[in-house]
Amino acid sequence: MKQQLEEIRARASAALSKAKAQQDIESLRVQFLGKKGELTAILKQMGKLSPEERPVIGQLANKVRAVIEQDIESRAAELKQEELARRLKEETLDVTLPGSRHTLGRKHPLSIVLEEIEEIFVGMGFDIVDGPEVETDYYNFEALNTPKNHPARDTQDTFYINENILLRTQTSSVQVRVMEKQKPPIRIISPGRVYRSDAVDATHSPSFHQIEGLVVAKAITFGVLKGTLQTFVKRLYGEDSVVRFRPHHFPFTEPSAEVDVQCFSCHGEGCRLCKGEGWIEILGCGMVHPKVLSNCGIDPEIYSGFALGMGLERVVMRRYNIDDLRLFYENDVRFLNQF
Ligand code: DAH
Repeated sequence: MKQQLEEIRARASAALSKAKAQQDIESLRVQFLGKKGELTAILKQMGKLSPEERPVIGQLANKVRAVIEQDIESRAAELKQEELARRLKEETLDVTLPGSRHTLGRKHPLSIVLEEIEEIFVGMGFDIVDGPEVETDYYNFEALNTPKNHPARDTQDTFYINENILLRTQTSSVQVRVMEKQKPPIRIISPGRVYRSDAVDATHSPSFHQIEGLVVAKAITFGVLKGTLQTFVKRLYGEDSVVRFRPHHFPFTEPSAEVDVQCFSCHGEGCRLCKGEGWIEILGCGMVHPKVLSNCGIDPEIYSGFALGMGLERVVMRRYNIDDLRLFYENDVRFLNQF
């Protein structure tokens, strides 16, 4: 039995030194020290020994167990060390390698120019306000002096959600919301998305952007409107740009005008960019109609104001000489990376 124990110790130690992984060590532990293991099998036969032999063999068996346990511990530690060394070697970080570059996106051309426009107006003391894109008929048309059956509604093919709710066709709706809440003096612009049931082509999209402007205070005249817009256009297109006001009609302003900028390509001669006109239209404007003021609880006998509405896409197309509006919405990086 003594021999058997010695032999088990020797075999265990040999097997352990060959163990390559933690699992190998675990199965060796089961094989030698487990409940059904080799050492236990020997101990079960202790009953057959004489009383003198029993403590001697018992002591030896305990020693063999301790030795095997010790071997297991040290082999496990060795393996751990080897694994660590291997990983340190494999996972070395070469800090001199060039890093992987993260490609940063760019600002969309619409955002670039919108921010410029906002900056110009903020510089003149305007606040920037936001309004809902889902609007009621009242704010989009009715309060803006455009009752049902008004012919001006025909020019704005509208996405109706039901009879009273629609996707706003113009940012002018924000004028009403601001005047209802805020007493004059008012000086705001409101950029945002608007919707019209138009078929897509190079100059039309069912969704586009406008920038609304509104000034209401005492003694606001058409002269203030002209001065403000001339200043705006010179800041946006350069000091030498020329502006002209052309009479027009909008239901919510009286008098109304459209503003053209002299074509910067041909200086009024007429060319491809301005379609031979010499002038490029950039916005609509006018003195806020007294009915609109009183609809919003502002006394037109005391206060007056002007308003303007600008199509952002048009301004950006002219700025960068872009001839197809669809490019703005296609998210093609080959286009977007040019700005
Ligand atoms: N809302 C008009 C449009 O979509 C643009 C406009 C014209 C807005 C004159 C105004 C304005 O505030 O005074 O065609």
